[in-house]
Amino acid sequence: PATNGADNLTELIQSLPVEKRLLLPPAGSQRRQYRGYWFPEWHLSALAAVRDHFEPKPTDIFLVSCPKSGTTWLKSLAFATVHRDVHPPSSREHPLLHKNPHGCVEFIHAIYRQPVDVARGIVEAYPSPRIFGTHFPLSLLPEHISGDGSGCRIVYICRDPKDVVVSWWWFMRTYVPNPEQLQFEEVFDLFCEGRTGAGPYWRHALEHWEESRRRPDKVLFLKYEELLRDPHGNLRRLAEFLGCPFSEAEEKAGVMDAILELCSLDKLKKLEVNQSGNKLKDGPVMNHSFFRKGVSGDWINTMTPEMAARLDAIVQQALQGTGFGF
Ligand code: A3P
Repeated sequence: PATNGADNLTELIQSLPVEKRLLLPPAGSQRRQYRGYWFPEWHLSALAAVRDHFEPKPTDIFLVSCPKSGTTWLKSLAFATVHRDVHPPSSREHPLLHKNPHGCVEFIHAIYRQPVDVARGIVEAYPSPRIFGTHFPLSLLPEHISGDGSGCRIVYICRDPKDVVVSWWWFMRTYVPNPEQLQFEEVFDLFCEGRTGAGPYWRHALEHWEESRRRPDKVLFLKYEELLRDPHGNLRRLAEFLGCPFSEAEEKAGVMDAILELCSLDKLKKLEVNQSGNKLKDGPVMNHSFFRKGVSGDWINTMTPEMAARLDAIVQQALQGTGFGF
């Protein structure tokens, strides 16, 4: 897309192609296709507000992902790394011990879902450098965030789409009214059609992989599986990219270990706030819904080999000739 934000999105929403399968709470979750991507309507309304009202700072950091790709982990790691001087990772007062990672680093669509004054108050009160999460791809964000001149740094995370769709099914079943009625096949079909939130998944990932090659100083591309395989190496990359590399003294003092421990699935999952809390006061999603197994290759326990082959073929075809693969 040539001109981010040039259309009147608010007026446009109701005329966009609609997808009504798998409607989830909250209301307004029917999906619309906008510039090739499917999003719940209320995300698009929030995007319109972001375009109109959000004023980025050159120091802002955006963590971009499709749902179920490792967003919660990335938010925890980035927050703990960037703010480690103010909040030492071994402190018993660390915000990540008392708030869900999505409360420490909020989604921009969740912030701008609220009245503009409230949203402005939240983003202005954020400690610097500000870190936001988003499922909007760069091509939908306004130029003043995504453009070359903005200064904002973008960290992207993706994951094997087969694990993503399984994770997504499990996640939805933690908060839909009748979880036993939600069939994996239904979720899988929609995912393969690219019609789940922020989909098509492969398109979203490809866009950011290409952008990371074009602007490696501004866009860092991470893979969930790589983070699992080499947490230290990837944390080091993340800190360097975000302009706050770990010093030798910090490495020796075990600061990286402390951050990885604080942000580990086991640690976060067991915290009181993540066992009982509710992500949004008025929303259906509970904090515990963000923590399940955290492994790679778990799709094999849910998906048939035929399904896996079908999804692999769709992804392969979509990415053919691009140089990118999951
Ligand atoms: P599984 O359902 O495969 O276990 P997102 O954060 O984008 O919503 O993705 C959720 C997935 O990330 C879930 O995968 C969840 O278990 C995993 N996850 C959440 N927190 C994690 C952490 N701290 N470390 C590793 N994986 C984590």
